[in-house]
Amino acid sequence: MMKRYAVILAAGQGTRMKSKLYKVLHPVCGKPMVQHVIDQVAKLGVEKTIAVVGFGAEQVKEQLGTQCEYALQEEQLGTAHAVMQAAPHLRGLEGVTIVVCGDTPLITAETMEALIRHHMAAQAKATVLTAIADDPAGYGRIVRNQAGHVEKIVEHKDASEQERNIREINTGTYCFDNETLFQALTKVTNHNAQGEYYLTDVIEIIKADGGIVSAYQAPSFEETIGVNDRIALAEAERIMRARICRQHMKNGVTIIDPASTYISAEAAIGCDTVIYPGTVIEGETVIGEDCVIGPNSEIKNCYIGHRTLIRHSVAHDSEIGSDVTIGPFAHIRPLSKIDDEVRIGNFVEVKKSTFGKGSKASHLSYIGDAQVGADVNLGCGSITVNYDGVHKYMTKIEDGAFIGCNVNLIAPVTVGQGAYVAAGSTITDDVPGHALAIARARQVNKENYADRLPGKKKS
Ligand code: UD1
Ligand code: CA
Repeated sequence: MMKRYAVILAAGQGTRMKSKLYKVLHPVCGKPMVQHVIDQVAKLGVEKTIAVVGFGAEQVKEQLGTQCEYALQEEQLGTAHAVMQAAPHLRGLEGVTIVVCGDTPLITAETMEALIRHHMAAQAKATVLTAIADDPAGYGRIVRNQAGHVEKIVEHKDASEQERNIREINTGTYCFDNETLFQALTKVTNHNAQGEYYLTDVIEIIKADGGIVSAYQAPSFEETIGVNDRIALAEAERIMRARICRQHMKNGVTIIDPASTYISAEAAIGCDTVIYPGTVIEGETVIGEDCVIGPNSEIKNCYIGHRTLIRHSVAHDSEIGSDVTIGPFAHIRPLSKIDDEVRIGNFVEVKKSTFGKGSKASHLSYIGDAQVGADVNLGCGSITVNYDGVHKYMTKIEDGAFIGCNVNLIAPVTVGQGAYVAAGSTITDDVPGHALAIARARQVNKENYADRLPGKKKS
């Protein structure tokens, strides 16, 4: 097989985004655009991937790490100039080179594979991936001759009125014979509306040198959207979101309303899990089978077992077991570990705490920095008092303990195995196992109190 290489253009600032964040780092469904591109390119079996970086080079390198090699484009003089920076890595190598823009996050490996195959079959020196756009404004247009062969690509800003009516656009993805590409690049000039070295000009140059130039039309325009501004970013997000939902549905996940369900590109969800509307699943979340998630829940970087129910709740960076019930209106904060069959109910906040199997905090509690054993019952209004204004302290509640309603557990403190804490207690000292702790003022009933109030008639 012909050796394959890839060049990813990621040096532009993205002025039209009007953002502090460099364009290719803007996330689509939680993943930076350039990472989407790299992930697809990685499926093509390429020998070398070169990312051309410039604006925000450090941040882009931080994102991509060792997934590719880098070429620095110090000044952004155009897309041809950008590809030229990859010359030290690629010039003179035999094989085909795919060039992709870092701002086309929806491009798929399947389409790039089809492009390469088309290129090989046509024995072309350059093949451009094109698409038919309803609104081609802003894109380079594909100018074909009467025989239907590609003549050149003309940028929107350089196009004549007539050329602007062409709806076939340049997607910014190409396949080149590697050696031909680097020869042609030396001939590109910047005599155009933007004073830039356009990569698109190599098409005309290769053609003039007698090389075959071909075009391959992408199955849909949607896949080739180039994100130059926030409007296109939202559009890309919408399309990617639908694509992700469709993939989960194909895998056997029920999504009641895909249009109001936001699932990150990295999430994995087991079959027969049902996702209700208004649910946002972010980061590298893993959800098992037969769960019910939502409505209106936000889950980020969580690992969730099977048959777990999460309704109207927020859970971040935590592990949640199987057969767990969470919510409505619960908040599981980072570094919590909730074992199987636990119930975290209405208005309960859990922070950096572990819950053993079968334990319950069903109503109105704050459990922070706590180690809760198995089969513990935390009554309504149980509070771990974990913070003295300076330091945080641990609360330990051992297996089978029963904490009554409205109990303050002043940390550091331990409630022993099988112990009871009476409702309304403020516990400052450890409670031994199997003991009953009562820490509240005794009730006093003052007889006939009401009758003795001045001006009050005896009834
Ligand atoms: C480019 C194409 C246009 C095509 C469109 C598809 C050219 C001249 N035009 O236009 O035909 O329809 O993409 O989306 O190629 N970049 C660099 N260095 C530079 C300039 C750009 O690395 O000096 C990178 C950008 O970061 C971006 C990509 O190249 O990822 C494309 O640049 P951009 O300015 O967005 O080009 P478009 O105007 O969209
Ligand atoms: Ca672009």
